[in-house]
Amino acid sequence: MAKLGIQRYTNTLIVLHWLTALCVVVAWFLGEGGRHIRENPPIWHFAFGLAVLVLLVPRLVARLVGGAPPPEPHDAPLLRLAAKVGHATLYAFLIAMPLSGWYAASALGVPVTLWGVTLPALTAPVPQPPGLVAELHSNGGTVLLVLAGLHGLMALYHHFVLKDDTLRRMTPA
Ligand code: HEM
Ligand code: HEM
Repeated sequence: MAKLGIQRYTNTLIVLHWLTALCVVVAWFLGEGGRHIRENPPIWHFAFGLAVLVLLVPRLVARLVGGAPPPEPHDAPLLRLAAKVGHATLYAFLIAMPLSGWYAASALGVPVTLWGVTLPALTAPVPQPPGLVAELHSNGGTVLLVLAGLHGLMALYHHFVLKDDTLRRMTPA
């Protein structure tokens, strides 16, 4: 939903974008699989992963209310389409990853807490292995990181090769 006249992302969206990127990367590095999760839950993985979901709420509201800057005028239609599809895919992962992780933790019988509050289990505990959703979650984390890496490379391509304002409009004024 691009609104005419907006040439850059709002500071709110910029802060939320970079905080989310940081939380995704930290969550990925703190990710753990295997049976020891039951005895020793990776609480910082849960915390940074859930932060992605929490940050997404104001971000989507700000995005829907304020819109986004229009694409660079000289971008080829295919590049615009790729950016749209890429951003939508990233948003889908930002929702799916925390929810599938929460579900996986519930399947493992591990309580998930957020700021001291224990969240309800999304499914009943099962004996090992924790199942398909957990497997999709673990592999999805790496897919998200690769997609975000490509996305970052595209931003650098815009900046250094196309020499347009794409990266500048996602950096604080
Ligand atoms: C964007 C956020 C997240 C990313 C990128 C992410 C990434 C990952 C990765 C890469 C793994 C596999 C680690 C390995 O096998 O060595 C993993 C496992 C796991 N994550 Fe996350 N995660 C995120 C959010 C969450 C959240 C919010 C929770 C729970 C509230 C969670 C719970 C789990 C659990 C329980 C496993 C183990 C699954 C299994 O045993 O197969 N994750 N995560
Ligand atoms: C895990 C890491 C990241 C995630 C999940 C992510 C996600 C996103 C999403 C969903 C958007 C669309 C924003 C919207 O229109 O509402 C976006 C835009 C953007 N991101 Fe990222 N991003 C990540 C890392 C990066 C990195 C490393 C860079 C730069 C090197 C970057 C540069 C940009 C730029 C310049 C835009 C604006 C694109 C445009 O105006 O068309 N992002 N990002």
